[in-house]
Amino acid sequence: MSKVTVVGAGKYGSTTAQRVAEMDIVDTVVMTDIVEGLPEGLALDMNQSRPLEGFETEIVGSSSGYKETEGSDVVVITAGLPRKPGMSRMDLLETNAKIVGAVTKEIVAYSPDTVIVVVSNPLDEMTALCREVSGLDHARVIGQAGMLDSARFATFIAWEFGVPAARVEALTLGSHGDTMVPVPSMCTVDGRPLLDVATPEQLDRLVQRTRDGGAEVVGLLKTGSAYYAPSSAAAAMVRAVVEDTDTVMPVCAWVNGEYGIEGVYLGVPARIGVGGVKAIEQYAISDTELEDLREAAEAVRVKQADVAQLVAGL
Ligand code: NAI
Ligand code: 2OP
Repeated sequence: MSKVTVVGAGKYGSTTAQRVAEMDIVDTVVMTDIVEGLPEGLALDMNQSRPLEGFETEIVGSSSGYKETEGSDVVVITAGLPRKPGMSRMDLLETNAKIVGAVTKEIVAYSPDTVIVVVSNPLDEMTALCREVSGLDHARVIGQAGMLDSARFATFIAWEFGVPAARVEALTLGSHGDTMVPVPSMCTVDGRPLLDVATPEQLDRLVQRTRDGGAEVVGLLKTGSAYYAPSSAAAAMVRAVVEDTDTVMPVCAWVNGEYGIEGVYLGVPARIGVGGVKAIEQYAISDTELEDLREAAEAVRVKQADVAQLVAGL
């Protein structure tokens, strides 16, 4: 019996549960939340789409503890508050640390060998916190950010050059925040290097829009943040673990020596399969991109040091 749990049945959690269920790759998707009736109601609704969508995965909703999550192969943690307009991801730090810390303890009590995909913000810090609280191997705790940021970058490139999104390869590394590192040297448009087709002005504009990708959606929605592309990103990571695909994906993973960076959670290309991260891939990025990645690592390291204090207080 294969099982995926999604903690938090809000926008991100419910769309992730739906996407994973529609992939039809596990027996059960469990959705939990603290709001009574919310996961149960959404699960009932989603189950009723099974005959129409043609999937067999059963969706179970639970707002009364974690018993239903027992033996989960993968857990996606979306619990927490989303950003409001003008709010930075760091503003969410203390509130979401308490939520993610409490959720993590429950998860590992019922699924001690699970793989956890963290999405709650601030992403790099919440991933580090989840690892600390869970005591799991670093490989089993991964954060989702790079898949989303890279998809945003690819979308903007596709629009700029009028090509199908599927004909664009794009990559972002670093943090899910101010020190995001878009990597133009690894991007292609219709098989051609982005650096050959884009002018410096185009490149700057595309990179800036990617950095601001989350805030642009928040600004339009006024309340809440993005969830369609984010849930696609998390569901793709779940699939890689469940089906042991060994796909290389930009994710927030524990870096210990790769790229000359030691002991920090950071967005890097990682081979994902059963058990989580199997290896960090060392791409031949440009010197400037490598410098930016190392700077991002130092910025995130400082913030992750705050996490150690928060963990002590949980
Ligand atoms: P939302 O407000 O729609 O849903 C959050 C849900 O978490 C709510 O239903 C709430 O009741 C639940 N929750 C709160 N405390 C809980 C607890 N202790 N146990 C279980 N459930 C609990 O927010 P949304 O849009 O789903 O976003 C969730 C998180 O994902 C936010 O922190 C947001 O910033 C983050 N996010 C991260 C992205 C990324 O790329 N890493 C992208 C988009 C959002
Ligand atoms: C996003 O990038 C807010 O982290 C969230 O959409």
